[in-house]
Amino acid sequence: MEYRFVVVANRLPVDRADDGGWTRSPGGLVSALEPIARNSGGAWVGWTGAVGDETAPFDHDGVYLRPVPLSPEDVDRYYEGASNSTIWPLFHDAVEQPVHKRDWRRSYDAVNRRFAEATAEVAAEGATVWIHDYQLMLVPALLRAARPDLRIGFFLHIPFPPVELFMQLPGRGDLLRGLLGADLVGFQRPLAAENFLQLAARLTGLHPDGETVAYEGRTVTARAFPISIDVAGSERMTSDPAVLRERERLQEDLGGDRRILLGVDRLDYTKGIEQRIEAYGELLAEGALAADEVVLIQLATPSRMRVAQYQQLRERVEREVGRINGEFGDVGRVPVHYLFQSRSPEELQALYLSADVMVVTPLRDGMNLVAKEYVAARQDEGGALVLSEFTGAAAELPDAFLVNPYDVDDLKRGITAALRATPSDLRDRMRRMRTHLREHDVDRWARSFLDALGGIKLDPPCPQ
Ligand code: ADP
Ligand code: F6P
Repeated sequence: MEYRFVVVANRLPVDRADDGGWTRSPGGLVSALEPIARNSGGAWVGWTGAVGDETAPFDHDGVYLRPVPLSPEDVDRYYEGASNSTIWPLFHDAVEQPVHKRDWRRSYDAVNRRFAEATAEVAAEGATVWIHDYQLMLVPALLRAARPDLRIGFFLHIPFPPVELFMQLPGRGDLLRGLLGADLVGFQRPLAAENFLQLAARLTGLHPDGETVAYEGRTVTARAFPISIDVAGSERMTSDPAVLRERERLQEDLGGDRRILLGVDRLDYTKGIEQRIEAYGELLAEGALAADEVVLIQLATPSRMRVAQYQQLRERVEREVGRINGEFGDVGRVPVHYLFQSRSPEELQALYLSADVMVVTPLRDGMNLVAKEYVAARQDEGGALVLSEFTGAAAELPDAFLVNPYDVDDLKRGITAALRATPSDLRDRMRRMRTHLREHDVDRWARSFLDALGGIKLDPPCPQ
């Protein structure tokens, strides 16, 4: 089978569950791309998320899924090693120490080759191929070498670091040349595109001209395309009876009148979960907040749990939650509800609708879709968003209560200001944020990227 439009990402949109069935894959990439792929009638090349899984290609929700199997060694070296212990921390300001190993790099190279081969097999002559994220930075050049007929776009969902940091990477030249294999390289923020072009000048002696650079007889464009969410889909879900039932259940279980602070993240050290909990704990200790008046619900999806830095984070977070609940809780009333679980979209929506303050405090984040999901859910124009300055979303949502998560006092100030703000101030802020989001949804993001790439035109979104 050959397709005119192919998405390539480390993960398929669905993940193999323990019972052998399929669940939605974790993370913002899938949340954003899944509605686009569903309407495109194309193919998606990626991993099923299960070690050694050899599932044959299959159709799912109108998309042809082409699994790329990863052996235990691939998972250890390419996924947990090079992708998530070297590149991930380095691209997030090195908030944890990046680890460099030669056999991880070799595995990254080999797995990227297999992704490129699988893509070359399913792409029709002249097809548009859209490659995603830091796990696959070598694929654009590998694919171009095999299939010069293709139109190739690449989008990086995470930040692109300043030149000085990128220069620490062994294999830095290969990664840069890998990306230069694309016709269009997309980033979340303009600064990331600038970092990339500066790096191209520094490492390869190329001469960028504005947002383009001439490379091997082609023009490569680097530009920002801030990713977003399915706003209309979120708005439809708000009135779903399952969401409303879940919201009622939450209110009953929490006992009515306590104000709710909410955190929703993958359990990742870039998300500032520890800083958020520390600030909340201090507010309780100082008496600025009382446990019978507020509650923090922290939903943390298990993520990359075999990587040591993630296990250590889990231990630290759970110890701190235990300490706060021990010190400030009572029988039947704990100040922190910590759920180390993934929840359904309907349950998440009910949480967003119930939360008085959504607390999003990453130390660094390419975009952060959770912040946008909260705003999209609040058709009632209620609620407040506390948002780290170091997320891509902060540039688009200046009406949030912006905070520096490295400064616990500033976090406390932001949370307190959000809790004390008048309803009319909150409504004005939420209205402006919602207006921005409605005009900048995920459909616009995908179309603007694909238009700039000059390849396939997506059909108009299906009326629902
Ligand atoms: P990242 O891509 O780094 O995980 P984002 O905030 O951009 O961060 O995207 C996270 C996505 O995962 C969002 O769509 C969010 O709804 C979803 N998500 C996060 N935590 C959970 C959870 N505990 N259960 C279900 N979905 C979650
Ligand atoms: O860009 C965010 C991202 O890293 C995606 O690439 C990834 O699919 C998602 O978060 C979840 O991470 P993982 O695939 O490692 O579980």
